[in-house]
Amino acid sequence: MKNLQNLMLHNLGSAANQKTWTEDGLFNYCYNIVFRAGYLALYGNATSETEGDKEKAINKDRAESDVLFKEFRKYDQLFPNLAYNVLPPSGRREASRLLNFFQTFLSLEKIGSKNNISGWISDLISARREEGMSESMIERYMFVLLWASQGNTGPSSFWLLLYLMKDPVALKALRKEADKVLKESGQEVRPGGPPVDLTYEMLMKTPVLDSAVEETLRLVAAPLLTRSVLQDMTLNMANGRQFFIRKGDRMAVFPYIAVHIDPEIHPDPHTFKYDRFLTQKTVTRGSPVPLVLSEAVSRGSPVPLVLSEAVSRGSPVPLVLFEGVTRGSPMPLVLSEAVTLAALLLLVLFEAVTRDLASEPRRAGIIVLELGA
Ligand code: HEM
Repeated sequence: MKNLQNLMLHNLGSAANQKTWTEDGLFNYCYNIVFRAGYLALYGNATSETEGDKEKAINKDRAESDVLFKEFRKYDQLFPNLAYNVLPPSGRREASRLLNFFQTFLSLEKIGSKNNISGWISDLISARREEGMSESMIERYMFVLLWASQGNTGPSSFWLLLYLMKDPVALKALRKEADKVLKESGQEVRPGGPPVDLTYEMLMKTPVLDSAVEETLRLVAAPLLTRSVLQDMTLNMANGRQFFIRKGDRMAVFPYIAVHIDPEIHPDPHTFKYDRFLTQKTVTRGSPVPLVLSEAVSRGSPVPLVLSEAVSRGSPVPLVLFEGVTRGSPMPLVLSEAVTLAALLLLVLFEAVTRDLASEPRRAGIIVLELGA
């Protein structure tokens, strides 16, 4: 929370005193704030001891996280071609430079000099050390965790805010809920007032916001979940076909078409309905979920083929057969909680700013539809 406040509020004066406007696209604004706050929450804050005093430490957090975000975005943009192994030589050189940069940036020595390192990160560092992993490999692993935790969170908060800004009824309902939760905690959003403080307990009382987050993820998150098959198995499809999945194959599950936008599961699937998950019974693991599977890729064949056939309802996919299942692995936040926190704060701030700027209509043009994540 302190990190979000440091990044979001540090140069926010009242509208009347604001001489110079800073304009940004909504995507960059959301991603920048959420990424940097996420990085600081995970990898810790600069200390007064190393920087001289508290003010300098706070400034260092802002400046350093900004540099990291800019480099991260460069990597983000290279990533699709990197994953498909089709980067030209100049792109490969740049990707390699960036990886070295991240490894140095997230060096264990540097992380060790910080305050407030998250328990998730410090536990994972200890666990890898106990397993005998080299320090240099742990530093690379630190980047994997940064990428996994931040690559989707900022863009998701952008989509949520965008959907809300386009849907006045939803925005009103969420504002009402945010105001209620704030009021119950003895706080209120008012121009020039003290910054609000959000706690985990407050986030547990926001079902409307949770539903809007889930609805956003349903519409915009389209993961391809890949697994290595560890033992032979048969997948039964809804139409009676069977697929024999061989030990040693790699396979991928792509639930977007058959779950996220299946009208039988989510009626009117392409419409953003902020309250959809308030009323809809959620599908849980083990319940009969139709999935689109990409074909088990035969060894050596680089491109997974999408089968587009549903696994027979009632035959839950035996995930335990695949490598990389994370049940029980330490995750500090359910992903939607990270987005919820960021979104609630963005929403509250957005509300403060829009109330503050009621007489400044030109701010209404802030949205830039930058879709690439
Ligand atoms: C909207 C935000 C997010 C989305 C859409 C998202 C999506 C995903 C997806 C699709 C996977 C692959 C899962 C699989 O293969 O079964 C994944 C893996 C992972 N995510 Fe997220 N994620 C988000 C936020 C986060 C956050 C906030 C964290 C941590 C703070 C996080 C940490 C991880 C980790 C560590 C993995 C790797 C798990 C493993 O294979 O062991 N993610 N995420």
